Amino acid sequence: MAATDIAVIVLAAGHGTRMKSRKPKVLHSIAGRPMLQHVIATAEALDPSDIVVVVGPDMWEVEVASEPHKTVEQSERLGTGHAALQAKRKLGGFDGDVLIMFGDSPLISPETLQDMIDLRRSEESPVVVVLGFRPEDPGPYGRLILDEDGGLERIVEAKDATPEELMTDLCNSGVMCVEGSVLFDMLGAIGKDNAQGEYYLTDIVRIAREAGGDCAVVEGDEEEMLGVNNRVHLAQAEAAVQYRMRIAAMEAGATLQDPDSVHFSWDTKLGRDVTVGPHVVFGPGVRVRHNAEIRAFSHLEGVTIDEWAQVGPFARLRPGARIGKAARVGNFVEVKNAVVEEGAKINHLSYIGDARVGEGANIGAGTITCNYDGYLKSHTDIGAGAFIGSNSALVAPVSIGAGAIIGAGSTITKDVEADAIAVERAPQKSLAGAALKFRDRKSAEKAAQIAARNKQEGF
Ligand code: UD1
Ligand code: CA
Repeated sequence: MAATDIAVIVLAAGHGTRMKSRKPKVLHSIAGRPMLQHVIATAEALDPSDIVVVVGPDMWEVEVASEPHKTVEQSERLGTGHAALQAKRKLGGFDGDVLIMFGDSPLISPETLQDMIDLRRSEESPVVVVLGFRPEDPGPYGRLILDEDGGLERIVEAKDATPEELMTDLCNSGVMCVEGSVLFDMLGAIGKDNAQGEYYLTDIVRIAREAGGDCAVVEGDEEEMLGVNNRVHLAQAEAAVQYRMRIAAMEAGATLQDPDSVHFSWDTKLGRDVTVGPHVVFGPGVRVRHNAEIRAFSHLEGVTIDEWAQVGPFARLRPGARIGKAARVGNFVEVKNAVVEEGAKINHLSYIGDARVGEGANIGAGTITCNYDGYLKSHTDIGAGAFIGSNSALVAPVSIGAGAIIGAGSTITKDVEADAIAVERAPQKSLAGAALKFRDRKSAEKAAQIAARNKQEGF
């Protein structure tokens, strides 16, 4: 799709003191990625020609999180109007429409932004379109003051508002769509004669009106407008994003047996007829192909699960795991950086790391790939159809040939040929009748002990 004449400015220079964190606010995670990247993804959905993120000084992590988009530094935090003006260095001369968004408002949808752009481009052609909403508690939000014709006359910050103005329930979300050719002139005209002594972005409405332009409001849903200022808001935003992802997964053909208990990451991909049990957590980078089943209490991250595979309950799949078609990974099994090929089974209590488990191989309960010697990681290769007896330790680097059998309880330190049987354990001894003699001796000892105690206590 060709680039449209839209540019987006994302304001993200605030530190967010109310988060009580060393980390800049917009880098706090929602569904496994920074809040800022949710905002950028929403902006990207509009296919803008430019996205410019305004960052504070010493915020290189925010610059990295903004890549590949441009950033500009606001060296002093003098207000939202001053922040937006910094983007002039990248967008001066741009004459399309400019959307201004806040990095701490991650729930706004592309559809809502598109409504604003459509209104900006309508016949009335308002110079500024503001996204408004009617919150249950208008409290600290800026109020949108309308004129008699329903046009937007100005925005007044709560701290500057008269008691009468505070009665208005139509509030400013912060998002604006502005005619680019006049945006930076208007931003340059903002003063700071107000309660907070800041350059308010919201002043451009008054400035546009004074120059004879119209301003208008698009009203959105309160649930999209949540601005994250503290960790309670962060949890609310997380819950909202999780809710949306659960609905999307079910609409796309996955069964969630207890949706509210399943936790997704922003990039979780579930195929059709995937079944997910209760209390499953998807960390980043998980893809589950059709008809696979993830049973209760499993934790997955950085893994691809092929069709018809069965995972869990209580499985832990870590980055670099690949679970092949119809393979099974059962309870209390951890798999890391390992390929489990088609139809292989690791049903109970095992650790498989830095390994290949060949097609149809069977890994007995309690098998451990000893992949780490305290310094380096090494690889274990298990051939197709091999059978690893329970409680075996495979000391890497080691390779078990196709079709080989490892006796239970073995510690395998040397390669095993295909179709060989390898057993490593002390030979078993059996003493005939020894258990009978043992019991006779021990019961006599116990009777003598009881008799001695009774005598002492005078029975
Ligand atoms: C702002 C609006 C208010 C609106 C509310 C919605 C102004 C003057 N007020 O108030 O009308 O109801 O948002 O949530 O615009 N930022 C910078 N540099 C600065 C100041 C802020 O980049 O110098 C960024 C912050 O990082 C944040 C955003 O701008 O992402 C909003 O700043 P914030 O201080 O939270 O504005 P509010 O007081 O909430
Ligand atoms: Ca705010």
